[in-house]
Order: sequence, then C-alpha cells, then structure tokens
Amino acid sequence: MLIGKPSDIPSSEITPRDAYEDYVNVRRSERRSFLRGAVAAGAAALGAERLGELFDPRIGALAGTKLDTVKSPLTTTGEDLTSLNDLTHYNNFYEFGVQKNEPGQNAGALPTRPWTVKVEGKVKTPKTFDIEALLKLRPLEDRVYRHRCVEAWSMVIPWVGYSLSEFIKQCEPLSTAKYVQFLSYYDKKVEKWASDTSIFWPYSEGLRMDEAMHPLTLLTFGLYGEVLPNQNGAPVRIAVPWKYGFKSAKSIVTVRFLDKQPPTTWNDQGPSEYGFYSNVNPTVDHPRWSQKTERRIGLPFYAQRKTTLMFNGYADQVASLYTGMDLRRNF
Ligand code: MTE
Repeated sequence: MLIGKPSDIPSSEITPRDAYEDYVNVRRSERRSFLRGAVAAGAAALGAERLGELFDPRIGALAGTKLDTVKSPLTTTGEDLTSLNDLTHYNNFYEFGVQKNEPGQNAGALPTRPWTVKVEGKVKTPKTFDIEALLKLRPLEDRVYRHRCVEAWSMVIPWVGYSLSEFIKQCEPLSTAKYVQFLSYYDKKVEKWASDTSIFWPYSEGLRMDEAMHPLTLLTFGLYGEVLPNQNGAPVRIAVPWKYGFKSAKSIVTVRFLDKQPPTTWNDQGPSEYGFYSNVNPTVDHPRWSQKTERRIGLPFYAQRKTTLMFNGYADQVASLYTGMDLRRNF
C-alpha cells in the first residue's frame, strides 16, 4: 500500500511489480529449502512437539482458543485453504509495522481483554457491547471466503463469525443511517510502529448500509475454528469478501452509524488509488498495476497466478447492490 506521495519517487526507480514478485518468490523458495533443512535438524534435537510450541505462529493471549462453531450455508467451496502459517506471517496491520511479517512479531502487545465495542451516531440509543456478549449473540459459523488484497495477492481464509447484520439489528440504527463506519483500536504506546507512517489514526473504514446488511458481510471473531490471532485483527474484525481486503477493519472498538459517507484510511492516503467502494474489479486497474490477476499466497510458484474474478467471485450474490452505478467512477 502507498505510504507517502508517489510523486516523491522517480518512475525510473520503481521496480516493476512482476520483477519484484519474481525476486521475492525466488528468495522465499531458497529460504524455505534452507529453513526446511534447519528445522529438520532442530526437530531431531528438540523433539517435534516442543518445536511446534516454539514456532506457534498465533500471537495473543487468547489466540488458538477453540470456538464452538456451526457449518455455514454461506461458505465458499472448492478452494484450497491458505495455511495458518501463511495467514499469520503475511499480514497488513500497519499499527504493528509495515512489513508483512511485522504484525506477526509485534501484535502480541495488543490487549484483547477487556474489550468493548462502542456504538454511536444515528442509533436509537448509543450502546456499548462487551466482547463476551458479542461472542454469544449468535451461533458462530465457519465461513470460508476468498480474500483479495488490493496489492494483487490473495488467500482463502476459514473465518469464524456471523453476519454483521445480526449485530446491526441489535444497534437499532435510525432510518437516517446510510453508512456504517468502523474504527480500530489505537494506542500509540502499544502500536509504536504506527507513527512511522503518514496514516492518520485510528484506522477507519466504512460501508454503505445495504453493503453492511448483506449476509456475506461477516463480523469475525476467529479463523480455523479458533480465536483470531492478534495479527489478524483480534478480538473482532470485519470480512467483506467481494471487496479489497483493506475494507475489512481489524480490532474494532467503535461502530458509528452516519448519514454521510465516512472518511476512510486508504481513501484519505491516496484517493486516486483506493476508492470508497473498493469492489474487486479486474477491469479497473490500480494506477500502478493491473488488477486482472492475483498471486495466491502459499501455492507453489508455478501455480500462484490466478485470474481475478469480478466481485472476487461473489457477483451472483452482490452485483445487484450496484445496479445502475458506474463502477469505473465508483471504484
Ligand atoms: N485494519 C487495521 N486496523 N489496520 C490495517 O493496517 N489493513 C487492511 C485490513 N484491515 C489494516 C486493517 C488490509 S490492507 C488488509 S489486506 C487486511 O486487513 C489484511 O488482513 P489479514 O492480515 O488478516 O490478511
């Protein structure tokens, strides 16, 4: 994602995206084979179980705690899941560092209990929900979704949660509420890395009310049947599978109902690069790269490149939300 102004960097100095990805992939596979050797030697010395503990990728006091879940009719089928290891080492959570591996190292500092979500704005009465009450509001469902980042990589994630609409009903929004804004936790003493960026904190995202009420929009508490690791946005985040991943705010502390479109983090950073709607759309390129294809994290190098689908493959369910809209202008 863009931090600072692109005009600061002469185009001659920007490595073409494909060359960079090829470089990273080659380096990664070299590193993996080296690591495999080292891990095998270590396992023999330490015993495999102890080694598993040392390399547990889930960070956070409650990460890894099992959740009671039920199957969801809204799950995506026919996709291989991204491994827990990749889901927890390749993250965007800029409050804990801008490199993909940094949230997995630094987000342990996020205090996920006690945790409350404040509801304010155009509602009958402002309320505060405790995370324990939110966890019990509805049966938690296992829902696999494709996850497409605006940076043209993707994953397949087995989330745990329930439709955000169930929570919104409890918030009793007024008829004047047209948008919902989500604000993430922000404490600069805990999230020391945040001040290295030009982002105006806290992280803010928003949805139009009908998007927020769509059954696919998931209030998310876990992945792989367990409490969310901190690096993935514990203890509660959003997952909107037909939009680029940055619409899915992590570690939410405030939900605000508004009559106007809220300011959002990436749209503020680069309005020509990150639109408010941010629907996955292979026909609208990012100004600096194509959105026609994506790189599926965790697959062997030769199998990574995939064709990006309109609305990330969820068009049958969500295209009607945008009938009559020019999706090039409202990107
Ligand atoms: N939420 C907060 N608070 N801070 C962030 O930096 N990054 C966004 C989104 N939510 C971000 C955030 C982006 S760019 C993406 S792609 C997804 O989280 C990444 O989620 P994941 O790390 O669980 O894959």
